[in-house]
Parts: sequence; C-alpha cells; structure tokens
Amino acid sequence: MGARRTSFELVRAMFAISPIAGETKADFHRQLRGQLSALLDGESDPVANAANTCALIFHTMPQLNWAGFYFLQSPDQLLLGPFQGKPACVRIAVGRGVCGTAVARGTSVLVEDVNAFPGHIACDAESRSELVVPLIRRGHVFGVLDLDSPIAGRFDLEDQAGIEAMAAIYVERSAWEG
Ligand code: SME
Repeated sequence: MGARRTSFELVRAMFAISPIAGETKADFHRQLRGQLSALLDGESDPVANAANTCALIFHTMPQLNWAGFYFLQSPDQLLLGPFQGKPACVRIAVGRGVCGTAVARGTSVLVEDVNAFPGHIACDAESRSELVVPLIRRGHVFGVLDLDSPIAGRFDLEDQAGIEAMAAIYVERSAWEG
C-alpha cells in the first residue's frame, strides 16, 4: 500500500503544464479548462486547488503579472489567498477596488485601464488592466479570482467567460464546509 501510494504521488507530482497554442481565444480557454480539470483531478482541498489553479493560469496565459485568489473572511472583508506574482494587498474591504466591487456587485468586473477605474487598488504599479471574477457557491459570493496584466486592454469578454468557467471548475472540484 505504501509503495502504491508513493508511486501515485510521484505521478501526481509530474503534472506538466502544456503550452497552449490555440487558434482562437475560445480554443485557448477550452484547452485551459481541460488542463485545470486534469490538474485538480483527485484533489479537493480548497487551498491546494486555489494554488494550482492560479499557477496554471499564470504560466499559460500570456501577458499576466498577477493571478490569485481573495476569500471573504467576514461579510465585509476579503483576505488574500494563494497567488502568483508580486506580494499583494492582504485585506480589501467589500466595495473597494476592483476585487471588492466584484463582490459587492456579485458579477465579474473587467477593467481595460485601471487608471480610469476610481478606487482601483494598485498592489503592483505595473498593472494596467484587470479581470476579477466572483467565486460563487449556492448562489453566494465567497471570494474572487483576480488576474492583472501590464498591458492595457489585455482582457476581453471571451477571457471573462473563460475565467468564469475556470472559477466554476475550481469551486465545483473543491470540498467546502457547510
Ligand atoms: N487591484 C486590485 C487589488 C488586488 S491586486 O491587483 C493583486 C483591486 O483593485 O481590487
């Protein structure tokens, strides 16, 4: 049993991110979803899955400088979760910044130019555009998945739909209390 478990863990440890060369953005996001499903297969821990989800996104989507999670710690405050990129703001009030706005609205927020978004919180001065999608379970928002880019206008509605689907896979594959 011990030997079998070890070999299983070795196989899991060897998950390799495949470069994605989609012809279209829809192709790209379809392949990204396929890789996420494979990556999360057999694991339901929410923190481990969040860590691997943002690592996959950060290392496959071009032109990102940050990808990560914030989780509601109380009804009015987000707390930093697993991420890839530079150290970030730890706590964000609901209703503040792009992340807090996504929670308050209960919808994704796509910002083409962060300088034109009143209240944007600049964790990394290089960020120029941002996409934040809510994490929703049983109709309630409990966190966000946040992507930042140093390129203005990096994200469009296809990226928004693609990342919303990634967030849904993450939520569905992870085990939540209650
Ligand atoms: N810019 C975000 C804060 C989080 S960082 O980008 C990682 C915001 O305005 O909510």
